[in-house]
Amino acid sequence: MKFSQLVTRIAGDGADAWRTHYAAQAAQERGEDVIILSVGDPALSTPQAVVDRAVAALRAEDTHYTGARGRDTLRRAIAELHARRSGQTVGEDEVVVTAGAQNALLTAAMCLAGEGDEVLTFDPFYATYPGTLKCSGARLVTVPLRAANGFRLDPADLESALTPRSRALFFANPGNPTGIILSAAELQAIGEIARRYDLWIVADEVYAGLAPGGHVPGLATTMPERVVTLGSLSKTHAMCGWRAGWMVGPKALMDHAENLLIGMLYGLPGFIQEAALAALDISDESERKTRDYCSARAALMLKHLQDIPGTTVLAPQAGMFLLLDIRGSGLDSTAFTERLFRTQGVSVMDGGAFGEQTRGFVRLSYAIDEAPIIEACRRIRQFCEGLASAS
Ligand SMILES: Cc1ncc(COP(=O)(O)O)c(C=O)c1O
Repeated sequence: MKFSQLVTRIAGDGADAWRTHYAAQAAQERGEDVIILSVGDPALSTPQAVVDRAVAALRAEDTHYTGARGRDTLRRAIAELHARRSGQTVGEDEVVVTAGAQNALLTAAMCLAGEGDEVLTFDPFYATYPGTLKCSGARLVTVPLRAANGFRLDPADLESALTPRSRALFFANPGNPTGIILSAAELQAIGEIARRYDLWIVADEVYAGLAPGGHVPGLATTMPERVVTLGSLSKTHAMCGWRAGWMVGPKALMDHAENLLIGMLYGLPGFIQEAALAALDISDESERKTRDYCSARAALMLKHLQDIPGTTVLAPQAGMFLLLDIRGSGLDSTAFTERLFRTQGVSVMDGGAFGEQTRGFVRLSYAIDEAPIIEACRRIRQFCEGLASAS
């Protein structure tokens, strides 16, 4: 039997990259001694008030179909959070509720580009981007944020990637895997180019609440007609598994998104939407808690990864991840990832999953307890010392 061409577009490095992670999860479930640094799902409990609201909604039989755009109350609360973060005032018509930011990424890609078009993203990118963006049928074009330039944007690289077919630029800010926040100058360059080439700008801000002060600079107020902001409660509110996210942008786009969401999701469950509302009621407090949790652990991991032979650690500005440059270890990042897991039981993510620029790097999540961070760093050191003495 035959499949659509779509199946080849959605498979690939991004999907393969999870192999070590899934093996580590399976080993952990069997009770083996493994430390998982390969996923950004904070080891924090969802706030009790959120769980209580979901349970109460379930008991009150909030188990029926909901509107595909999301409840007005929730969209208003999201609009308020968006205004606090970006300074942009939007109405509930300019918000749709999605099943996490991941679902919002797919929705945006499908509504903004298709066959014959090109969508751009930075390399390194979040691992699901290629498969998700290519679902639209558009060709994916990557713009390097070069390792040699500290993963910072050279606007000339963006400009030279553009063609008359370019439709949209997708990026995460703060970045994953780099943890880098785009500077005002980088954003200004992006904005000028986007205006000149009439591009949509899709800013994935799932980690924005974890940046210093709880927000990142953006272009939403400068060019609201072309900026789409994606967000979710996953990271900032310890709610990865609830799948509560959103997209904010011009109403015409939200109308198209609603049509697609009817086909794809048919409404986020009502009890999840009520829980999301409860989370937004205590937003500042839970964001601050996760932010403090992450920044303390970033500092701890940085300290314990100093002076490991064959490696250099890159300090992140925000988020839950840092990159370890292992190009001096004698292994490529795929072999490093596999052997580190096999010999030390530490699961990290192969930088190759995030593009060409991060080949030779591995990504480590620090959103876990302090003791496993220290132990994981000890094992990484032991592993690298073993490599150094064998060479
Ligand atoms: C940059 C980025 N975007 C989107 C997602 C997906 O987030 P959500 O759980 O809201 O779907 C992730 C998850 O790791 C991410 O890192």
